[in-house]
Amino acid sequence: MNIENLLEKTLTKPQYKAIKILGDQFHKMGTRAFLVGGTIRDLLLEREVSDIDIIVESDPSNLMHKFDPQYQIDVISNSQFSTCKIKILNQAVDLAMAREEIYPTSGALPVVTSSSIEDDLGRRDFSINALAACINPPNWGEVLDLYRGLEDLQSKHVRILHSGSFKDDPTRIFRCIRYSGRLGFSLEDGTRTQLLEDLTYITLLSGVRITNELVKIYSEKSTNSILDLMDQFEVLGHIHPGFPKGPEFSKRKKLLTDISIPTSELVLYILISLIQTDQRMDLIKRLDLGNKLSKFGRDLNRIELIEVSSSRTKIYKQLTEVSEIAISVADAYVSKELRRNLKLFTNELKTISLCIDGEDLMGIGIPHGPKIGDILSKIFTHMINSGPLSKPDQIRMASKFFGDS
Ligand code: CTP
Repeated sequence: MNIENLLEKTLTKPQYKAIKILGDQFHKMGTRAFLVGGTIRDLLLEREVSDIDIIVESDPSNLMHKFDPQYQIDVISNSQFSTCKIKILNQAVDLAMAREEIYPTSGALPVVTSSSIEDDLGRRDFSINALAACINPPNWGEVLDLYRGLEDLQSKHVRILHSGSFKDDPTRIFRCIRYSGRLGFSLEDGTRTQLLEDLTYITLLSGVRITNELVKIYSEKSTNSILDLMDQFEVLGHIHPGFPKGPEFSKRKKLLTDISIPTSELVLYILISLIQTDQRMDLIKRLDLGNKLSKFGRDLNRIELIEVSSSRTKIYKQLTEVSEIAISVADAYVSKELRRNLKLFTNELKTISLCIDGEDLMGIGIPHGPKIGDILSKIFTHMINSGPLSKPDQIRMASKFFGDS
């Protein structure tokens, strides 16, 4: 199959031109170069191509100086894994050396050695990501499909290349579900069986690797259906057994859909709020989530443990140190009665403040000394219990407390 027409039709003009130049230049340097992975998958699905990924059968950072100087190529970054990011005609391009990967143990990062494009495609996650299209001029647009990726794109299937794929790299469990949700593809039968069998390997992944996958899922447009698939395949339960399942999961998830916190970590806030109170800090430890999210978890626990019939003072004490984010997230899912307490705190108790200070008290004849602090704090407690007072009322109350003392 040759996709030269598709390249012209689907890519933007600058993308097309940039790829043409790169193919031409690599060809002159004597190396084969291919569009790969998501670039070719999205091209074939006629979806917008956002990233240009090119594989060359050589270390790309060693080739940079060989480019014809008439083309301006900015090297944005080089990595020790023989990949580099460049910019040409204002187009960002990821270049990588064709590689073979060996996973020393399940869940560990792979050991990488240079290889041919054929081997490189064989180390990939799914057949739909294991397609390549040559960009060298004599073979421009020729598709290399060693794993029946074209067939799977047609029949809308996500399929692993070999039975050890999820075991090698359990992040592929998340990727598999992400592509299925994003593209509306089903899991090929063998892949589904293997995924269910290999879910336990999720326990071998570090918190950071799981978190990265979750954040990627949440940046998708179809997050909701991906989360449903995660529930269906019990992926969340393998991250931590304290997550609700089935109808309970759907119900809780629905309550949380309107929350909008402007952070790429929104998914983590949501997952922390989905899990049972007594398991929450354990999840945070498992995912290695750091101080900010630990505080958020502790705050939610504090909120969830407020007794519905608590006094105003007790509500104030429980919530005064709690972050606004925790209150707004909890507001989405706690009981009606508890929500009333949150409202009372946010709309009233939190806004209560003293409008008088020591100077005012001395102004009405209360002598300098510890009594001043005592009286101010008594007035504040009184307002928390009974509602805010105006400045003159606060002064009158100070004078009364002084007289009573
Ligand atoms: N890949 C893999 N196994 C992984 C991660 C990535 O085999 N655990 C391969 C896949 O072939 C994938 C390519 O590396 O296509 C690039 O990975 P990535 O940038 O994460 O995905 P894209 O395919 O670009 O897809 P998208 O960014 O659209 O999700």
